[in-house]
Amino acid sequence: MAFIAKQKVNGNDYYYLRKSVREGKKVKSICLGYLGKNKKEAQEKMEELLKSPKREVKRMEKDKLDRRDISIEELSIFCKRRGFVYPSGDIYGGLAGFWDFGPLGVELKNNIKKEWWNFHVTRREDVVGIDGSIITSPLVWKASGHVDSFSDLFVVCKKCKKPNKIDKDELGKVRCGCGGEYDEKTAKEFGLMFKTNIGEKGESYLRPETAQLIFTNFKLVQENSRKKLPFGIAQMGKSFRNEIAPRDFLFRCREFEQMELQYFIDPSKLDDCPFYEKIKNTKIGIWSSSSQENGGEEEILSLSEMLEKKIFKNKWHVYWLWNSYQWFLNLGVDKNNLRLREHRKDELAHYAQAAVDIEYKFHFGWKEIFGSHDRGQFDLGEHEKFSKKDMKILDEETHEKKLAHVIEASFGFERAFLVFMIDSYFFSKQRNNFILKLHPLLSPIKAAIFPIVKREDFEKFSEKIVDDLNKEWNVVFDRSGSIGRRYSRNDEIGTPFCITIDEESLKNKDVSVRDRDTKQQIRVKVLDMKEVLKKLINKEIDFSSAGKLII
Ligand code: GAP
Repeated sequence: MAFIAKQKVNGNDYYYLRKSVREGKKVKSICLGYLGKNKKEAQEKMEELLKSPKREVKRMEKDKLDRRDISIEELSIFCKRRGFVYPSGDIYGGLAGFWDFGPLGVELKNNIKKEWWNFHVTRREDVVGIDGSIITSPLVWKASGHVDSFSDLFVVCKKCKKPNKIDKDELGKVRCGCGGEYDEKTAKEFGLMFKTNIGEKGESYLRPETAQLIFTNFKLVQENSRKKLPFGIAQMGKSFRNEIAPRDFLFRCREFEQMELQYFIDPSKLDDCPFYEKIKNTKIGIWSSSSQENGGEEEILSLSEMLEKKIFKNKWHVYWLWNSYQWFLNLGVDKNNLRLREHRKDELAHYAQAAVDIEYKFHFGWKEIFGSHDRGQFDLGEHEKFSKKDMKILDEETHEKKLAHVIEASFGFERAFLVFMIDSYFFSKQRNNFILKLHPLLSPIKAAIFPIVKREDFEKFSEKIVDDLNKEWNVVFDRSGSIGRRYSRNDEIGTPFCITIDEESLKNKDVSVRDRDTKQQIRVKVLDMKEVLKKLINKEIDFSSAGKLII
């Protein structure tokens, strides 16, 4: 049964056509359309609507958001304009490959890192964390092979004269983006580690990966945490690479952060993975090395088929790839924009026996955002050789000493940042505005709170809500501009919920909460606000059932 409902906003009456519907045991009232600002007009409009040949009045049309394919240049402009990311030392013209994070960027960064840590360390019994130093003994980098092997080939294009980096085996085979050939005479090997001074005479390097600090601390961590194989050690932090050609905004930087996990396994139990049975039928698009060599395309394979084809050499490697892929999906990345790519033999890193990347479909092509490596016993073995310290651990059952086998899951924070931003970039024709549809857990600001008009009693009421919510989350009190302007400003920076205080709020001690993605609004009691917001941020409840649906 349809009926007319009046809503008072800012002293004005607004009339809506509503209808009661039963959902399970509950009866809900849903909005069918807007009827205007006076009762007579509303009555006439309702009769007209109900007389229409279809009789069944359609529910108010939902806002449709269209994904916008944003280029990396457009994204960098957006990030600077909105305070996410700035070129480092911008007032001096910036410095290639170095970036600073602004007020919204640092919040998003902290949220990404927090979600990574929660997922990979806090919620797991079998993983502990460390925080190693950026500069360590130079012998670490000798033992790891970085001093001798961590280099690219520096080349200059004969036509456009731009420098570039290529792999050592690519000289004479690949061309510059402009079509020009690379000059073979001036090609030279270029070490990627930054050297730095220590005291008067000492020298070392800024770490090019966080992984080695995990290997060098392996025995101490194992003893302190009393972990038995298999177990993992995770770390997040800065890495530095003197990239020949930093490019594509945050994609290839000289200073960046990695979020890495090394998982240590008994070498005789590489297939004893308790999670494998549950995940083995998961199908994912993969561009295998054989397909790359034969000029083929990616194919959809189940994880068990990938293992049969020896893309992975053991079940633990399959699991860690799946788990990392899942992290992106859980935080809302569209799986159609992700695929896997197996490394060809000729491009495997010096420490890896097998490697599978996760790639993202960027505007400039499919590119690596995550790397998983089967590092075998390479790192612990090399550190044992160079340091002359025993890196094996005792198997209490068999009384054998074992050198653990390592599977690595390596995320680059900047690339994850790009993926979350690009994948969230939507446009609403109805609103004529961009909407940054970030997962609420990642959103820099969780809620914007605003009084519907400037009035002292509304502002006081709003301040109390802000004080209460910002004990848990980053929320803002947004007072300037019209309501519409405030909504669109918050939609554009990804604020998932806008909380409005109006005349009714003072009387009923409730507020209206608006959902960024659907524009739906619910009424929530102030006393329940924290609990409701928590569930909404964690996506534990559907927005329309989190309160009394009003629009
Ligand atoms: N510990 C293994 C390792 O460092 P990698 O494939 O060289 O492996 C892992 O790097 C991840 O680090 C990459 O998937 C990427 O996300 C990130 N990364 C590497 N170089 C980067 C750069 N120059 N700028 C930004 N991120 C980078």
